[in-house]
Amino acid sequence: MLFDRRPKIRGEDFYDRREELQLFFKGVEAGEGLIIVYGVRRAGKTSLVYVGLSELGIPFIPIDVRGFLADPSFLSPQILLGVVWEVLKRYESYQGRVKEFLSDVLEYVESLDLGMLKLRIREKRGELPTKVLEHANRWAKKRKTRVVIVLDEAQELRAYPRWRDLLAWSIDTLENVTFVVTGSEVGVLSDFLKLSDPNSPLFGRARLEIKLSKFSREQSIDFLKKGFNEAGIAVKEEEIEDTVDKLNGIVGWLSLYGYYRVTYGLTHVEALKHVEEDAAKLLASELEKIVKYSPKRYIAILRAISLGLKSWSEIKHFTEGSTGYIPDNRFNSLLQNLVKYSFIEKTENGEYKPIETLLPKAVEILRKKYGT
Ligand SMILES: Nc1ncnc2c1ncn2[C@@H]1O[C@H](COP(=O)(O)OP(=O)(O)OP(=O)(O)O)[C@@H](O)[C@H]1O
Ligand SMILES: [Mg+2]
Repeated sequence: MLFDRRPKIRGEDFYDRREELQLFFKGVEAGEGLIIVYGVRRAGKTSLVYVGLSELGIPFIPIDVRGFLADPSFLSPQILLGVVWEVLKRYESYQGRVKEFLSDVLEYVESLDLGMLKLRIREKRGELPTKVLEHANRWAKKRKTRVVIVLDEAQELRAYPRWRDLLAWSIDTLENVTFVVTGSEVGVLSDFLKLSDPNSPLFGRARLEIKLSKFSREQSIDFLKKGFNEAGIAVKEEEIEDTVDKLNGIVGWLSLYGYYRVTYGLTHVEALKHVEEDAAKLLASELEKIVKYSPKRYIAILRAISLGLKSWSEIKHFTEGSTGYIPDNRFNSLLQNLVKYSFIEKTENGEYKPIETLLPKAVEILRKKYGT
């Protein structure tokens, strides 16, 4: 089914992305130690990785870092790599039946009792993370395969610089281990891995980068048509065009629109309204992670850009109209943060614009919340 809320796992449910998948297959088969999959929210990063790995039939350990945020200590290499240990142990009971194991592994990791895991690791004084990875490497070597450790939304691990040393060491030393990390472009490439920082242990290290772009207009239309066809539902051409105009090539929102129409029988207007609400809420909650540090100023900047102001000086002028004088360097750093976290982009001719068409709606949610 093309229209589904969850990340895809099976190739037949996954639309196109053939080039990116081929690149992913080549990377794993060539034995890359680090593969980075990045793209904006809901671009299909998790799906690409799961579909790729299940098509390859290689044992993998999926760690959705967002599932470990309840306790910051869960994000340390020691605890998180404890999951690798548990999954490999569990794999033993499948006696080499990779396919069955792969269909269970996502559920298994989700159901792990993290509190217990932490206790066990503390009691044993913890296996050193390097030992766990060496064990994984030997484990894979013995079975003449590779083992892939997926750190999904890895930017959340940035509080532990130790991860970078471990990844660098793993790339250099462990022939049968591949790390796949996903996240937004800036979040994962610069905040977490610090690939362009000469002081980072990962600077200049071999890796494969796969970028997931938005779908083109043609792809978006074709995706919706194929999905409705598959569900046996006739949809008007102008409704498809309208949806594609509004949802801007982001596959996660296109598939959610299809899901609402097919599963709940909603009309075009209702389905679009629901998707826009969901998308705006998600965007607002992501924005809030940085907006909360300086809500008045950030919200004013975002409003300016939502209203279509494009140049640095127009945006600054508007912002100061609402918040009072802001020193240039302070204003720059606020603006750059919004670019850095992929909420807005700076075009080649130096103009600022929203990445998602729903930015104005998300900004309205924040305005209500902060009373600005
Ligand atoms: N190529 C594709 N074909 C069909 N559906 C897709 C494709 N890529 C993603 N989807 C669908 O889009 C939604 C978002 O996908 P996914 O969770 O993989 O994206 P993501 O980039 O990891 O999102 P997030 O930023 O929330 O982590 C899911 O419902 C998934 O089923
Ligand atoms: Mg994801």
